[in-house]
Amino acid sequence: MHSAMITGAGGGLGRATALAFAARGCALALVDIDEPAAVDVAGACGNAHVIVQDLTAPGGAEAAVARSVAALGALDIVVNNAGYGAGEAFLDMRETTWDRTLDLNLKAVALICAAAGRHMRDRGSGRIVNVTSPASRMALPNYLAYAASKAGVDAVTRAAAVALAPFGITVNSVAPGMMDTAMQRITERQLAAIEGRNDIDVFLDERTRRIPLGRRTDCETVASTIVWLALHAPDYITAERMNASGGLDKD
Ligand SMILES: NC(=O)c1ccc[n+]([C@@H]2O[C@H](COP(=O)([O-])OP(=O)(O)OC[C@H]3O[C@@H](n4cnc5c(N)ncnc54)[C@H](O)[C@@H]3O)[C@@H](O)[C@H]2O)c1
Repeated sequence: MHSAMITGAGGGLGRATALAFAARGCALALVDIDEPAAVDVAGACGNAHVIVQDLTAPGGAEAAVARSVAALGALDIVVNNAGYGAGEAFLDMRETTWDRTLDLNLKAVALICAAAGRHMRDRGSGRIVNVTSPASRMALPNYLAYAASKAGVDAVTRAAAVALAPFGITVNSVAPGMMDTAMQRITERQLAAIEGRNDIDVFLDERTRRIPLGRRTDCETVASTIVWLALHAPDYITAERMNASGGLDKD
């Protein structure tokens, strides 16, 4: 049986990923700042431990790994999924937005890769999957801290893949398309407001039509991509960025 730690497992993509791993018989450590949400997911999963942890607190990333190892005995898989994003006009960018976004989306991901890497090195195997975004390759002036944080995740994925390859550990990433989650709903309303758009349905429809496949995706589809990389992909695949965005990420 595989043991997996999933960050941000209480909602959206993290929840769907937890359920997908649980359906394949994995033992899970569900890391989230939101205890009721994580407890709810654990109840739906079965074999799952709830790790209530703020990943942006001092030592929070390392604590999440240590507490997950303590709960499960060992870690075969880590999914760095927890993320935060806020739409704000380029000329109005705030320091607090940058701090919150980079602390969670980038710094915690790097520190978890290192902490999990140390544990997996001693076991001689492991798979890490980071959740990036098509935004990392786009010019998004009203969503810059988020886009920059995900460009950082791409850098972390490549560097961690090289650093951990000698120990039989692979590190890959998934770039999801637009899924209907709390984060996506809030962000798109912020972006519409920045652009002075009151016709939210038209605004959302325009964004959907920019996706080459012409439709949005769902958390279950992206979760199955994460599960494939973590459980089924050949172990020669590392430093890969898998585009699960309907062609939105096409550069
Ligand atoms: N929703 C989309 O369309 C979309 C598109 C591309 C990439 N992504 C990425 O997918 C991932 C999941 O996004 P989502 O839409 O499911 O988000 P979400 O906001 O629905 O869920 C994020 C989860 O992370 C948890 N979390 C937030 N701050 C935390 C902290 N400090 N410590 C621990 N846990 C914390 C939240 O409680 C929540 O359960 C993110 O990395 C996001 O950037 C999402």
